[in-house]
Amino acid sequence: MTASNPTPLTSDDDWWRTAVVYQVYVRSFADSNGDGVGDLRGVRERLPYLRDLGVDALWLTPFYTSPMVDGGYDVADYRDVDPMFGTLTDFDAMITDAHALGLRIIVDLVPNHTSSAHPWFTAALAAAPGSPERARYLFAEGRGAHGELPPNDWESIFGGPAWTRVPDGQWYLHLFDPAQPDLNWRHPEVRAEFEDVLRFWLDRGVDGFRIDVAHGMIKAEGLPDVGFSSMTTGRRQSELLGKGRLPYFDQDEVHEIYRAWRPILDSYPGGRMAVAEAWAETPQRLARYIGPDELHQAFSFDFLDATWSADSFRKVIDTALVEATIVGAPTTWVLSNHDKQRHVTRYGDGEVGLRRARAASLLMLALPGCAYLYQGEELGLPEVLDLPDELRQDPSFLRTGESRDGCRVPIPWSGELAPYGFGPEGGEPSWLPAPATWAALSVAAQSGVPGSTLELYRTALGIRHSHPALGPDAGEVNWLETTGPGVLAFRRAVGEAELTCVVNLSDAEVLIDGYGRPVAASADLTEQGVGHVLPVDAAAWFDRR
Ligand code: NOJ
Repeated sequence: MTASNPTPLTSDDDWWRTAVVYQVYVRSFADSNGDGVGDLRGVRERLPYLRDLGVDALWLTPFYTSPMVDGGYDVADYRDVDPMFGTLTDFDAMITDAHALGLRIIVDLVPNHTSSAHPWFTAALAAAPGSPERARYLFAEGRGAHGELPPNDWESIFGGPAWTRVPDGQWYLHLFDPAQPDLNWRHPEVRAEFEDVLRFWLDRGVDGFRIDVAHGMIKAEGLPDVGFSSMTTGRRQSELLGKGRLPYFDQDEVHEIYRAWRPILDSYPGGRMAVAEAWAETPQRLARYIGPDELHQAFSFDFLDATWSADSFRKVIDTALVEATIVGAPTTWVLSNHDKQRHVTRYGDGEVGLRRARAASLLMLALPGCAYLYQGEELGLPEVLDLPDELRQDPSFLRTGESRDGCRVPIPWSGELAPYGFGPEGGEPSWLPAPATWAALSVAAQSGVPGSTLELYRTALGIRHSHPALGPDAGEVNWLETTGPGVLAFRRAVGEAELTCVVNLSDAEVLIDGYGRPVAASADLTEQGVGHVLPVDAAAWFDRR
């Protein structure tokens, strides 16, 4: 092992419980060499920006060797960096600098499937049915008189059947693209391999892992039919994600994998953690992924999916808080990521969407637990809805017409012309084009501008770090029922220090009185008597010490 940076930050093993983690979609963050694609050197160069923003950790989306059929979630070598993103040496330099700046690094682990270019899969294709090489994946005989029908009715999340037939007549399972064959997690070699991959990155100093499709690795014995599909009913099985049971997701046996991983993480110093990207039928089943003997966190996608209403937010927040408390884990909030329409656009787009997105971010950052930010949300970026079809790269676009490219457009750093400082002067155009309107949203354009979204995030993150009522020892959420329908207000306190967050989701402005001094607001407050008027679609924090 020649890792150049085996030393993680060790100051606080529980850092992840209250951290703000910034998701770096590496391809779209910063391009150091002018090829139009973001890379690890670009991340390294921009670390001071992230330190100054006030985040605690970065989650980097996959940068491993990959044909990039699914943006790197098709991994051909789990222990190397794709040349498009740099080298292992670049990774080591990046993590060394990050740690020196006090930033922790979480990497993405993709254990449910490999790329079809992975040596295990090419060996499986070259070998015969029933061979040990095929046993690492999920190959099966087809149905029908000549095996011409898929082994069961399972659908790919990206649309169409989850099975592809190979020339000798067998079929293999891919819950995502055909270029992402699912591994057989009942095979001991698969388990041993990923335990080794975990150690490889832990030895290089990573502070944690984001586990891709954490609910997917174990499939129900006998591969039973779901019972309906788009072919038979027009209803896609993926509609049940997070709402119902599917034989290929959230099987009880998957927890054995995490119980084997946890001692590995715990054997390293410095609080190494893992966060599950898991979809389960209920918050209760989701909570089973977290706790002292499994993973540390699971994203609350119910929070991300909440509609713009006080009832909707209140319900998901309360449920997530209860479930997390039962298992002794922190809640894990997220509003945007690389798979979902950006929250500015989800909440209405344009001016209204931006106002609501800023308010929702203040709400999230006042809640207990850990919060994940997605690059560009601190700039108030909207989803890019009008990308030309021929530029879209999401594999699900071809199969379903739905595309996640609009939230993956490279972020604007500076200047008047696209790609707005994403790459060096005179470099290639960015791999997805940024809209002409983004000059005003760049980091440079918003820096130091009072009221800009970037300054709002900087202020909020600064307070989150310094205010005792938002810190690791802070109390729980105390809802205040005094502000009227459509208004969410809660207080957190420790000792004499109190911070109250108020979000106005009603259609009338509200007068806030008696909560203390406003210290952050997503829209201008006006003084009225001793109180303050909070406009519609806005949030504010009030401090009393
Ligand atoms: C979830 C990832 O976030 C998404 O981008 C990817 O397409 C699928 N998992 C498959 O790996």
